[in-house]
Amino acid sequence: MAGHAVNPVKELTFPHLGPMSDMLLHLKPEQVEIGMFVDAFDGRWIDHPFWRSRFLVETAEQLALIRESGVIAVIVDRSRSQMVPGTGDEAFGEDRRKAVGGMSPPYRGVERRRARIFAPPPRERPVRPATYAQERRRAARVIDKSRGAVIDLFESARLGRAVDGGKIAPLAEAIGDSITRHSRVLINMVRLKQKDEYTYLHSVAVCALMINFARHLKLDEAEIQALGVAGLLHDVGKVAIADDVLLKPGKLTLRERSSVEGHPRAGHALLAQSPDIPAAALEVCMRHHEKMDGSGYPDGLGDGELSLYARMGAICDVYDAVTSDRPYKAAWTPCEALTAMQSWTGHFDPQLLDRFADSLGIFPVGTLVTLSGGMLGIVTGSAGESGEAIAVRVFFSCDLLAECSPFDCEIAPTMREPRILGRASQKFWRFDDWPATVARVLAAQPEADAAP
Ligand SMILES: [Fe+2]
Repeated sequence: MAGHAVNPVKELTFPHLGPMSDMLLHLKPEQVEIGMFVDAFDGRWIDHPFWRSRFLVETAEQLALIRESGVIAVIVDRSRSQMVPGTGDEAFGEDRRKAVGGMSPPYRGVERRRARIFAPPPRERPVRPATYAQERRRAARVIDKSRGAVIDLFESARLGRAVDGGKIAPLAEAIGDSITRHSRVLINMVRLKQKDEYTYLHSVAVCALMINFARHLKLDEAEIQALGVAGLLHDVGKVAIADDVLLKPGKLTLRERSSVEGHPRAGHALLAQSPDIPAAALEVCMRHHEKMDGSGYPDGLGDGELSLYARMGAICDVYDAVTSDRPYKAAWTPCEALTAMQSWTGHFDPQLLDRFADSLGIFPVGTLVTLSGGMLGIVTGSAGESGEAIAVRVFFSCDLLAECSPFDCEIAPTMREPRILGRASQKFWRFDDWPATVARVLAAQPEADAAP
């Protein structure tokens, strides 16, 4: 690193990042080293190969990916780096601690923060897995408590009081713990909310979906926690909308529409008054109604301008909205919701939407999936009383590398056999004309009462 030109560009700003601070360095990809904490990439999010843009560079593989990524620049946070970019400090371990003590004046103020980074990581709280039945009661208590807290939060926001981030974080933690014990229970329970509970339980549902999604993307624990808080707070700006407009079943007037479209900005302004709200929550609050094609609100930002958090927030928010019973629309099943969302070109990041479906273990109609027992099937819809089971037409044996007589089965999330192991690659299995294969298999007469 010694000898590299370092440019602490204070004047540089990014629409989604805000102004640069003294702690942020703007480096070329080839200047990045192991031990630096990447705060952001300058360029389109889609151009870099990481699901998250904030992480510590720890391996040669990560370093190679950054250097080959083609991004314009990398924003490195000095205060979270384990080496001090620009000071010639390439030392680790004991030497690194000495280097921290000898930081140049601009960095002395962050010694305490850095000391936390060099301290051993806090011990993880043990959270034991639970069965579906065991977790139901605990999840019900978590949902109950969260509903009450969100009602209080919205009430105090309505009175113009600042949001207390210290009260919100433990809720996100409790929801995260429930998902750790069993990844499906709380998400399923909160989806089946009553119409009149939507306003408050939507925040709880989006929190749970964000945490589950962030874990699936392997984001770090601090980010996962911050995204849980973001889920709870993303719609707090709705307190500025009159109830009759919020619940109006018909078409909105121009004025009503403008009031609704003001809620991200109103929420962001409210959250910005509190010092302990994570940046991810401000971002998701402001951007969860933006769309990839630039047709969303409040600013009509597009593909290259929307962060990972904004894209995740948009997906989780809409998924919960369409799978909930509303005054003007019956709930869609998870499978119907994902199928519809996949068809809305320009709304969501399509790759990220696939990962979201994977995180829930639910797939849109037409998805090729691998089943336990070495078979491939095509998702044909949802099944079961609450729409949690997936209907699959099984048609291909992976062992024989050949199609078999197709048959249908319904796979509930609690079933041991058959299970859906995950999405399969059409390319890997050589289905060169996938739409034609789907049409042919679905048009065939299935065998009756068959099982894989
Ligand atoms: Fe919203």
